[in-house]
Amino acid sequence: MSIAIVTGGASGIGRAIAAELSSRGDTVYVTDRNAEGAAEVADTLNAKLPGKAFAAALDVTDNEAVAAFYNQVATDHGSLDLVFNNAGIAIGGLAEELTMDHWNRAIDINLKGVIHGVDAAYRIMIKQGSGHIVNTASLAGLVPMPMGIPYTATKHAVVGLSLGLRAEAAGNGVKVSVVCPGFVDTPLLATVNDGLPDTALSSKPGTDVKDTVPGRLYTAEKLARDIMKGVKRNDALIVAPASGRAAWRGMRINPAGAVRIAKIAVDQFRKQSAK
Ligand code: NAI
Repeated sequence: MSIAIVTGGASGIGRAIAAELSSRGDTVYVTDRNAEGAAEVADTLNAKLPGKAFAAALDVTDNEAVAAFYNQVATDHGSLDLVFNNAGIAIGGLAEELTMDHWNRAIDINLKGVIHGVDAAYRIMIKQGSGHIVNTASLAGLVPMPMGIPYTATKHAVVGLSLGLRAEAAGNGVKVSVVCPGFVDTPLLATVNDGLPDTALSSKPGTDVKDTVPGRLYTAEKLARDIMKGVKRNDALIVAPASGRAAWRGMRINPAGAVRIAKIAVDQFRKQSAK
């Protein structure tokens, strides 16, 4: 049974990962900047599942708080086996609409938030000679995703840092994987630019990104099961669902073609916005 930490565990993918860990009897720390949400998740898991869940308020932008928390968990249990640096936010809009606040928020949470978790966990795991760091990026970290370039830039960075670290960490007995999901049905899709100036993408009343995605959306529960399988196999990249793997394959075979497809989506968006 493992000792695990999940960031952004109060909602969506983080909550589903915590449930998977708890269902197999692991001890899981459900952390989030939303302390109430994290507590609700931990209570629900403890009521239903065999593992032991604890809740904690943790803002991943606070480097010192992240390091102190990860160290405390490792000290309390004698080890830290699994860390899911998962917390993230969505930023959307055309580049010319975005402000430095959009960029800084994406960098602070989606990139620096992961760096803080990686830095804290890796130092502990080097000493242990074991452990697995699992960072949540996105399919937007592998393929060109327009209309949200701060998001796609930070997610590409998370892929890069994870794969680079994986090569270094193997010699220290530490595993590193990065998760790259396509669209997943979570509250994230309805909270684009939360607390930031709206853009044409985020300002239409009643619009939700998921209304624009064809077909049925992948669920956080299904993704969490795929993540656990990938972690067990120690996959470098966990790309899901199958449509995401197809898009990633397309990008590797024909990057210019992938950009042309992305341009079609931008053209359609501009046409619709002009109406
Ligand atoms: P969500 O909005 O359901 O959950 C994200 C959680 O992160 C929330 O509970 C939020 O309070 C927390 N959070 C945000 N900023 C934080 C901070 N500074 N410190 C601590 N917690 C913070 O979103 P979802 O979909 O579960 O997203 C999880 C991760 O998956 C994110 O990194 C996201 O970029 C990534 N992702 C999501 C996709 C989707 O379509 N939903 C697709 C690909 C990747």
